[in-house]
Amino acid sequence: MTTASAPPETGPEQKVVHVRIDNGHALVTIDNPPVNAFAVSVRRGLMEALRAVNEAGCISAAIVCAGRTFVAGGDISEFAGPPPLPHLPDVLAAIEASPVPFIAVMHGTVLGGGLELALACAWRIADSQTKFGLPEVNLGLIPGAGGTQRLPRVIGLEAAARMAAGGKPVNAAAFKDFGGLDLVFDGDPMTALAAFRDSLPARPVNTSERTVTDADLTALKAEITKSAKGADAPMIALETTALAATLPFAEGAAIERQTHLDLRQSSQSRALRRLFFTSRAVTRPARLKSIEPAPINHVAIVGGGLMGAGIAAACLASGHRVTLLERDADSADAGRGRVESIIAKDLASGRISEDKAEARRANLSAGANYAAAFDADIAIEAVFEDPEIKRAVFGQLAAVMSEDALIATNTSYLDPNLLSRGLPGPERFLGLHFFSPANIMKLVEVVSTSVTTDQTMATAFAFARGLGKIPVETGVCDGFIGNRILSAYRRQADYMVADGASPYEVDAAMRSLGMPMGPYELQDLTGLQISWANRKRQLAAGTWPGRYVDIADRLCEMGRQGRGSPMKKGWYDHSGGKGEPDPEIEAMVGAWRQEHGTAQQAFSRDEIVLRIMAAIVNEASLILDEGIAASDTAIDIVWTEGYGFPKHLGGPMFWAEETGMDRLREAFAAIDAQSPGSWKAAAALKG
Ligand code: NAI
Repeated sequence: MTTASAPPETGPEQKVVHVRIDNGHALVTIDNPPVNAFAVSVRRGLMEALRAVNEAGCISAAIVCAGRTFVAGGDISEFAGPPPLPHLPDVLAAIEASPVPFIAVMHGTVLGGGLELALACAWRIADSQTKFGLPEVNLGLIPGAGGTQRLPRVIGLEAAARMAAGGKPVNAAAFKDFGGLDLVFDGDPMTALAAFRDSLPARPVNTSERTVTDADLTALKAEITKSAKGADAPMIALETTALAATLPFAEGAAIERQTHLDLRQSSQSRALRRLFFTSRAVTRPARLKSIEPAPINHVAIVGGGLMGAGIAAACLASGHRVTLLERDADSADAGRGRVESIIAKDLASGRISEDKAEARRANLSAGANYAAAFDADIAIEAVFEDPEIKRAVFGQLAAVMSEDALIATNTSYLDPNLLSRGLPGPERFLGLHFFSPANIMKLVEVVSTSVTTDQTMATAFAFARGLGKIPVETGVCDGFIGNRILSAYRRQADYMVADGASPYEVDAAMRSLGMPMGPYELQDLTGLQISWANRKRQLAAGTWPGRYVDIADRLCEMGRQGRGSPMKKGWYDHSGGKGEPDPEIEAMVGAWRQEHGTAQQAFSRDEIVLRIMAAIVNEASLILDEGIAASDTAIDIVWTEGYGFPKHLGGPMFWAEETGMDRLREAFAAIDAQSPGSWKAAAALKG
């Protein structure tokens, strides 16, 4: 037996690739925790291993990875600058051309560069739980080391184009069906490898030398255009993959590499990478790092309506015991029914097994007696948006729960300071603002009151992360980060409708930016009544900022409260199933304008987008100025995760920087002139 390893490099680079040769068979182990990413040290180590294996004249060489996964991707921290030598395509070309044939022995997640490595090997064998994918498009990129050219040569053009453009991983069974694997095993990889080597098939033609049969990708292209919603990388990945059918490998691979390098500089990729990198810091505030979070097992949820049921389902899905408290026994039964129907949907769709569903049902109890919350570690209130009702609930919870237990409100707009004032243990009260549907949406705003302790915040953050959520800290203001910006967005949309744009034009303009729906479609979906109630509250309190357009109020008064309302109408007519623009609304808006004598202005699509974005960015900047949000990335994460702002545009703040603050300032001046006295200018937007 001989051993060799990557030579010491300049500097204290650690050995991350080890070679062991036994009876003429080499075992090349990559050991670069946590996920064996293709850092330059791994690339160098592999080149060195290749040399050792060939010098020893081995019969075969297997590549395995230490730890929890095979190579799970490239080293994205290298993406900002030129990649250091050796480049991955050259390493993979050398492995493919090696006289000693390579076997990839895989487990975990074989992603990006990991899959490209496997495709350059002569054979691929994998544990049955392994997942395979080319996720580069999720960061606005395409593969850069032959992935789009080798994959179709192994699994065929259509399956490869779908993997490269979709960015979603496939499991081992599917990848084997496509022809991507020579063997799927369960149990010890070394035993499986030994068996595979004992009857080693004839060495196949090198992947890059195979030909690809052309395929009709028209349907896939239509699918990708729809799902990409303005992101460029998916279609580029598809078209680059398609080159494999017409170009020799070397030409296709050269185009792929250049495209990959160009995309690294693109605005969309920078936007996606920034969100990816910063979300960790936002969801783990530095000042809470040294604080040990308290364990949370039992969760009490008060209010089993839309939000309470969703939150309960999220808690059950992460293994918590949940007590759902309602007003009376009938409401408790209804709440339990809502949670059970979410579990049933997960079961029906195959997301969970019957055992899991049963475990979740067994962890749920529902009733009307608050005493059941006595040993809960946290209570989350999701009752009606009424301060008196919420205060009463807080009082009842504080009376039965330990003073160490957290008590949170899911309020959309109310001030948690006021809800918890005078109650015992004020430092354990906070806001946990989930988004609807709470079992699916990942964003949670974590709201600290003026006396919430860091211990409470640390526990709340750990709890939310444990639910698989993305917690973002926010201070107290009307609507916190997300809904406060949403109010500004809606206000500016209403001003433009009052002054000449149709709500349908506004929706179309915002969709053209890449929003999944416009502000009026969104109102129809979520119902017009919550924001109506909120406007009334602000008007009564005298806190409404400036010009008031009451067109939405008129809709509410007419009973047009959205898709889910008995009329099935809101800004659109949903009575036929699909929301259709309604001439009645156009007439009503026209009459409103006449009545108010507003100037009739035509707004272009770009103008609508810029003016709305100016309102959004101004509000976001005020939120930053006031210290409500810790960073502009916190705002971007809230708006991409909670409000559907396209991730490839990076969030409103990144978009503003890319678009140019001058243009935003100009648009802000225009909205200020349009509705004088309605906008407080943030420092960044002042002309
Ligand atoms: P909902 O009307 O669907 O549910 C409220 C539930 O609370 C009802 O089941 C009701 O029976 C129960 N309830 C009322 N008073 C109670 C009491 N004293 N004790 C126990 N249960 C009581 O309302 P939804 O939409 O679930 O909203 C709940 C809270 O979540 C509100 O504060 C709302 O602002 C907030 N929220 C709502 C979002 C949404 O999209 N609907 C999003 C984020 C927050």
